[in-house]
Amino acid sequence: MLTVYLAVGGLVGVVILLMLSRIARSTHGTTVQDKVVLITGASSGLGEACAEVFFRAGAKVILFSRNSEKLEATSKRLQTLNVPEVTYSPVIVPLDLEDLDSLSDKAEQAVQCHGRVDILINNAGLGYRGTCLDTTTAVHQKVMIINYFGPITLTRGIIQNMVQNGGGHVVNISSVQGRMAIPHRSAYAAAKHALQAYSDTLRAEMASKGVKVTVLWTPPQPVAWHLTQLLRRFFKQWKGGTMNSSWPSLLTGLQ
Ligand SMILES: NC(=O)c1ccc[n+]([C@@H]2O[C@H](COP(=O)([O-])OP(=O)(O)OC[C@H]3O[C@@H](n4cnc5c(N)ncnc54)[C@H](OP(=O)(O)O)[C@@H]3O)[C@@H](O)[C@H]2O)c1
Repeated sequence: MLTVYLAVGGLVGVVILLMLSRIARSTHGTTVQDKVVLITGASSGLGEACAEVFFRAGAKVILFSRNSEKLEATSKRLQTLNVPEVTYSPVIVPLDLEDLDSLSDKAEQAVQCHGRVDILINNAGLGYRGTCLDTTTAVHQKVMIINYFGPITLTRGIIQNMVQNGGGHVVNISSVQGRMAIPHRSAYAAAKHALQAYSDTLRAEMASKGVKVTVLWTPPQPVAWHLTQLLRRFFKQWKGGTMNSSWPSLLTGLQ
């Protein structure tokens, strides 16, 4: 237990140092105020926490997930937060990433909400544990669709709008297992590895078009929770709610 606390403490310390050094080096921090931010899996967990961070910073958040009631609840909760800066009512769009054929229409719907999407956070995901021998092909397919084919299909639909608008940022939420596969996680690790490979290719292709591509290797839940708390505090303390546009890449090197 002590080791876990030391690891979490150490990690949080590194995050703070990296954030401070990044701010110190930044000559012109850009603001996410008024930016359009689409977050998948925004009805719970990390996606909901992300939605709050961007909502507080004055972004126009578009919340995607399957469960419209949970999305409504998230939207209501955000709108009851006591935020001094200008905020925008979240837009909710129910979607099922497994329904690949519907995703280009959903992407178009998202673009139509505010005429553009500046930041796409592909966060929705499905975890799965099972040995290679126990994991059926059907399970592999489901995990691959939700964690890989869904996000890349949605990305294709959105990124064309980003290119037309001269830039944007795609953030793909991955895991340590997107780099390092461990026992009992073959389906999950394979899908996250695929997402990493796609993102690396996309980043290179988009470099000249002003679209940034970041992969966040999210640590396991307790650490993710600490990072979320840290980001919330960070925003509270930062006058005007501005942040550097490349904040996700700030965290990328940590996992
Ligand atoms: N938590 C961790 O410890 C951890 C560690 C490493 C990486 N990650 C990654 O971080 C991301 C978020 O994880 P989390 O723990 O916050 O997840 P979570 O609490 O289980 O939330 C998953 C979100 O994805 C949505 N979702 C699931 N299936 C979907 C589908 N078919 N179509 C559309 N939306 C769907 C869910 O909403 P609905 O049910 O309403 O659809 C929910 O909002 C995932 O990509 C995960 O792989 C998490």
